[in-house]
Amino acid sequence: MDIILFGPPGAGKGTQAKRLTESMKIPQISTGDMMRAERSQGTELGKKFDHYMSQGLLVPDALVLELFEKRLRQPDARNGAILDGYPRTVAQAKALDTLLELMGRRIDSVVSIEVSLAEMIDRVVLRRTCEGCGQIYHLRYNPPPSPDACGKCGGKLVQRADDTEEVVRTRYQEYLEKTAPILEHYKTKGVVKTVDGLGPLEEVETRIKASIVPPPPDSN
Ligand code: AP5
Repeated sequence: MDIILFGPPGAGKGTQAKRLTESMKIPQISTGDMMRAERSQGTELGKKFDHYMSQGLLVPDALVLELFEKRLRQPDARNGAILDGYPRTVAQAKALDTLLELMGRRIDSVVSIEVSLAEMIDRVVLRRTCEGCGQIYHLRYNPPPSPDACGKCGGKLVQRADDTEEVVRTRYQEYLEKTAPILEHYKTKGVVKTVDGLGPLEEVETRIKASIVPPPPDSN
């Protein structure tokens, strides 16, 4: 089953994707995490990503398509994946349709998580992420047991460089202009459901699970 978790910065896509991978037994694919990994390894590609990410701008499609395709073709994603932060443009969505069709698959569900701009800013500015395992915390809503160390693996907690109010506002503009139009693309396929992203993590997870459209019986 292939699912897109859709929504603006800070909507809770990464948090919920991690929870869903455990119950659905399919991997999370986050292009943002993949780009941050390239960046922290200091690769040439990572330097190119950083140029756009640090300003809150989308990375050009040409740099993203191959990165994503390589990941989707990994063996752990053969039965599907939870896509977090991909696709981000109509061109990426069309490329994804083509790729999945070649693999005999299709997007089964798009779950659009809705939160207000004020909530987005509040969430990302106080977000902390574990350098080791990627666990996501919020200093107020979902605090780690200690402010510097991950409760899951003991790794160091860091603040993302693009998690300032100014950059989040730019990321939201990019979302409105380039990413939100994708919903229309998937609405024509009848696979879009909208959920309220406010409330305890468990409640949002229950809403997401209830909105996932099961694949038709003839699909794999
Ligand atoms: P990316 O890493 O994908 O970031 P994003 O889409 O902006 O989303 P976030 O990771 O900020 O938020 P989220 O929805 O995952 O929320 P989270 O669960 O962490 O992209 C970053 C950059 O990479 C882009 O700007 C772009 O430059 C580039 N990029 C990536 N993919 C690309 C692509 N395909 N094409 C081009 N460029 C690309 O939660 C946020 C906070 O809220 C956390 O602190 C969490 O604990 C808290 N929280 C979550 N749920 C709740 C809740 N229910 N109540 C209270 N707090 C909550």
